[in-house]
Amino acid sequence: MLHKVHPVASYPARKTHADKSEYQRLYNWSVEDPEGFWAEQGKRLDWMTPYTKVKQTSFEKGKVDIKWFADGQLNASYNCIDRHVKKNPDATAIIWEGDDPAMDKTISYQQMHDEVCRLANAMKAKGVTKGDRVIIYMPMIPEAAFAMLACARIGAVHSVIFGGFSPNAIADRVEDCQAKMVITANFGRRGGNEVPLKSNVDKALERDNTGSIESVIVYKLLEDDTAMVADRDYWWHDVAGVCEPVCDPEPMNAEDPLFVLYTSGSTGKPKGVVHTTGGYLAYAAITHEYVFDYQPGDVYWCAADVGWITGHSYIVYGPFANGAISLMFEGVPTYPDVRRMAQVVDKHKVDILYTAPTAIRALMAKGDLPAQGTSRESLRLLGSVGEPINPEAWDWYHDKIGNSQCPIVDTWWQTETGGIMITPLPGATDLKPGSATLPFFGVKPALVDSNGSFLEGAVSGNLVITDSWPGQARTVWGDHDRFEQTYFSAYDNMYFTGDGARRDEDGYFWITGRVDDVLNVSGHRLGTAEIESSLVEHPAVAEAAVVGYPHDIKGQGIYVYVLPTDGTEITEELTKEVRQFVRDDLSPIASPDFIQWTPGLPKTRSGKIMRRILRKIAANEFDSLGDTSTLADPAVVDELIENRLNK
Ligand code: WTA
Repeated sequence: MLHKVHPVASYPARKTHADKSEYQRLYNWSVEDPEGFWAEQGKRLDWMTPYTKVKQTSFEKGKVDIKWFADGQLNASYNCIDRHVKKNPDATAIIWEGDDPAMDKTISYQQMHDEVCRLANAMKAKGVTKGDRVIIYMPMIPEAAFAMLACARIGAVHSVIFGGFSPNAIADRVEDCQAKMVITANFGRRGGNEVPLKSNVDKALERDNTGSIESVIVYKLLEDDTAMVADRDYWWHDVAGVCEPVCDPEPMNAEDPLFVLYTSGSTGKPKGVVHTTGGYLAYAAITHEYVFDYQPGDVYWCAADVGWITGHSYIVYGPFANGAISLMFEGVPTYPDVRRMAQVVDKHKVDILYTAPTAIRALMAKGDLPAQGTSRESLRLLGSVGEPINPEAWDWYHDKIGNSQCPIVDTWWQTETGGIMITPLPGATDLKPGSATLPFFGVKPALVDSNGSFLEGAVSGNLVITDSWPGQARTVWGDHDRFEQTYFSAYDNMYFTGDGARRDEDGYFWITGRVDDVLNVSGHRLGTAEIESSLVEHPAVAEAAVVGYPHDIKGQGIYVYVLPTDGTEITEELTKEVRQFVRDDLSPIASPDFIQWTPGLPKTRSGKIMRRILRKIAANEFDSLGDTSTLADPAVVDELIENRLNK
């Protein structure tokens, strides 16, 4: 395959953090002498007790144990705020752009300090102490970041839940981590709509397994009637407003948990991925600086939601650890219309823009319109994250948004990796559209076959990482076995990513997507098992099988095969009802694109559903179904093809 290459020299020359030889020097150092390299990089942070130990890690089955900087003490909130306040209290921390284009504001590091301290004091007054879990269910407003940093300040472990998630999803997470407090807002605003966040929390807390919650702090986003439960619910301005804007940061061990973030896997309910304080923060900081080539004063915009790992590492922790200006956007790229993203870039003179292929493809579908009437000349770097970016979308982003002047960093990583793992560095890496290119410092990727044997040269295989890096997740909340099972049991002494990849003749990685039963819908992870178990809770559904299929904008769409329960009359109404049921139960992201009712599913004689066949039919590629001779009832397949929906 021939790929267009965009060499470093094809972009305006500027001094970057690394050039080709500097990348090579630092990479070699990082993998040949991880102790020495990370001992040095740990100094990016201010430590209350300096570390003497650096790397103590084992990927060995049954003994997986990951520790970085283990005897050091620090506070993440101090590192993200106070040390910058000491240098320049008026420096901008957040540029906030509202859903409504007429609304924006700027928050300095000093202001952020004061708000974080007030809230931290209010949380303490409500009985939250070091190690307690706090759920954050907020819209994209600065207070979401304040809430995260307030937790970090007092040593509470936050778990941010995306504002689009349902009451059930909140209740499951509260139960799993036994959270003591919820921080929310009465409403959220997105794309001109109001989202009833507080009422979702109320519904969640009506479930009897959420009794661990003692209090709910509610930010008043809109003047509106909001039901408040006595002795449980408190207005943010009432409780934090009266507190002192000073709160001593709690000394935390480097390996104390900073947050839990729930993400979908191939089995069961979402798992609480645990990130700890020292290694995570150091890794978020160094990747933010090098990958985005962050220079003081740059306006940096990561267009993700704080409810995802991208928001944690690259709206909050990475940028603030570096004293950067982080733009936070409340809205969506298509509201009021498709020019919004480009308009925000011009309005705030954004230097660096980091977004997802799904957003790019949605805009690309509108041709030239999304760039119309805007110059975007402040931009010097673009980033992409969340799913493979197809070369066509890459070109559009590069040419139309970036005026062909900006390199694109296609960053591959995961909730579990904490930070960016495979990525170009601006000024150091020649680009190939569609390739995430080369590993970041300290990252040792490899490709293996299904037996775990290393594959050399230009080849495709399963993507593994063969040694630890500081940003790596340490465990699954309350279930270390599941952590080992999920990531370390497939291959000996390796972290298995769940992704497939190809390596080309230049050693560049091309991520091909998940090789497990995880879907990636608009850059959001969903487990097929999770959607299936939701579906079968509907009384009309006896059995369900969920697969992904290629979708022009979302990357993957959700195709559902359902077996009705006996006596069910299948109507359009019922199909709608089932779709709504999943939306309400999980989230609108999990809404099935196609629901095909069927009297049977293709199963082997031992009862295993042959998903390969279902995937093909969903993709409308039924000519190449492969061997169906092991099916218990091959006739089922003809029926499924006959009634397929994605024609
Ligand atoms: C996919 C998001 C190709 C991949 C940070 C991974 C990507 C999953 C890329 C993690 C990329 C993420 N190219 N695929 N640049 N970035 N992915 O946990 O399948 O929400 O395993 O983390 O997204 O999704 P998660």
